[in-house]
Amino acid sequence: MTGLRDLVFDTADPGFVADPYPAYARVRESTSVWHPAGDHLWYLTRYADVHAAFRDRRLGTSFLHRYTPEELNLAPGIPVWRDPRWKDFAAFERWELLNLEPPAHTRLRRLVTEAFTPRAAEGLRPKIQERARRLLQTGREIGSIDLVASYAQHFSIGIICELIGVPEDDHATILKLSDATIRMYEPAPSEELRAAANSAAGEFRRYLLKLIALRRRRAADDLLTAMIGAMVDGERLTDDQIVSTSMVLLMAGHEAAVNATTNGIAAFAAHPGQWQLIRSGEVSPRLALEEVLRYDPPLQWFERWVLDEKFEINGVTIPLGARVALVLGAANRDPRKYEDPDQFDIRRADTNHLSFGGGIHFCIGAPLARLELETTITELSRSEAELVIIPPTIRRPTFQFRGYERLVIALSEIAED
Ligand code: HEM
Repeated sequence: MTGLRDLVFDTADPGFVADPYPAYARVRESTSVWHPAGDHLWYLTRYADVHAAFRDRRLGTSFLHRYTPEELNLAPGIPVWRDPRWKDFAAFERWELLNLEPPAHTRLRRLVTEAFTPRAAEGLRPKIQERARRLLQTGREIGSIDLVASYAQHFSIGIICELIGVPEDDHATILKLSDATIRMYEPAPSEELRAAANSAAGEFRRYLLKLIALRRRRAADDLLTAMIGAMVDGERLTDDQIVSTSMVLLMAGHEAAVNATTNGIAAFAAHPGQWQLIRSGEVSPRLALEEVLRYDPPLQWFERWVLDEKFEINGVTIPLGARVALVLGAANRDPRKYEDPDQFDIRRADTNHLSFGGGIHFCIGAPLARLELETTITELSRSEAELVIIPPTIRRPTFQFRGYERLVIALSEIAED
C-alpha cells in the first residue's frame, strides 16, 4: 500500500468531487481493503467485495438493534443523529428504512414494496411521460433548458409527491425541505449545515403529520392513505413510521433521480457517438440507462457498521464497531468485472451494476428511477440530433449526492414527420 500513502478520499476537495474515479482506481488496483491513517472508514472498492458486502449480515446500516454506542466505544455524538441537538432529524431516522435492520426493517419494507412493484411503476408511465413533455416544452419555446432547476428537480419531485399524495402547490416546499434535510448525510457536514438539516427535518415531519391527519379524515387514492390503512403483522403503522417512510421515499426518490438524470445527459453530451446509437435506434433508452447508472452513479458510497467480533475480508480483519464504505462508484469500474470500465458504452446493457445497492436494502424505487431515466432519454432523443451544452456547467459541491447544480442544454422544436 506504499503507493497510497499520499492519497485520501477528500470529499471536501472540489477536484476529488469533480472526478473521484482516478483516485478510486489507484486504491482498487493497490489493495482490496483500504484504511488510510486518520480516516474512520475502511474502504472496499472491488466489485466482488462490494457486491458481497451489501449482502453480508455481519454488516449493518445500524448497530442499535445489537449494541449501545457505549458498548462499541463510540465517541459522543456518533452517529450524528444521536446528538441531542439534532432531535428532529433523529425522530425521522428512528423509523427510516435505510437505518433499520430486521425484524423492524422487514416489516416496514414489505409494506412499501407492495406499492413499488415494477408493475405499479409501469402504470405511472403515461403521467411520467406527460410531465417530462410539459417541462421540456417550456425549454423548447426558449431554445434551452437548465436540466437541474427547470427539469429534473420538478420532474422527479412531482412524480414521487403525486404518488404519496402531496398536493401540487406544496411540491416546491417539499423540494426545499428535502434538499436541506439530506445534507446531514454528507461525509462531514458543518455545524450550520447540520442545524439547517435538523430544522428542515422538523418542518418536513410537521408538514407530513398534518397531511396524515387530513387523510385520516378524508381518504384519497394515494400511498399515504394506503399506509394509514395498512395492517402489517396484525398491527397498524404509527404516524411516526408513516412520516419517516414518506420522507425517505420523497428524499431518496428525488435526490438520486435528479442526479442520475443530469449525470446521464452530461455523459451523452460528452460522447456524441453514444447519443447517435440512441437516435438511430441501435440501443434502446431502456438498456442505455443501465450504462448511465454504472458509469457515473449519483450515489457514490454507502456505509455499514461491523456487527461481528471477527469480520475478515480477504485476510484483513476489520474490528467490531468499525465503519466500512462500500464504494459502488469504484466497484462499477472494476476491470475484473468490466472490459474497458472507464469507457461509457451503452451497448454493454449490464444490469448488474451496483448503483442500486444490493441485499435487503436494495433500492425500492429502482423500477421508478429506471422509468424516469428512460423517459428523459426518449423525450430528448425525439428533438435533439446532438446534445449541446451551454456553459457554464456547475457541479454540485456535495460528494454523497453526485450531480450538477447547473447543466443547460440547447433544445430544438420536435421536427414534424
Ligand atoms: C437513479 C436513482 C436512484 C438510485 C441510484 C438509488 C440508489 C439506491 C441505493 C444504492 C440504495 C441502497 C442503499 C444502501 O444499501 O445503503 C437505495 C435504497 C433505497 N432507495 Fe433508491 N435510488 C434511486 C432512486 C430511488 C427512488 C426513485 C426511490 C423511491 C421512489 C428510492 C427509494 C429508496 C428506498 C426507500 C431505499 C431504502 C430501501 C431499504 O432500506 O430497504 N430510490 N437506493
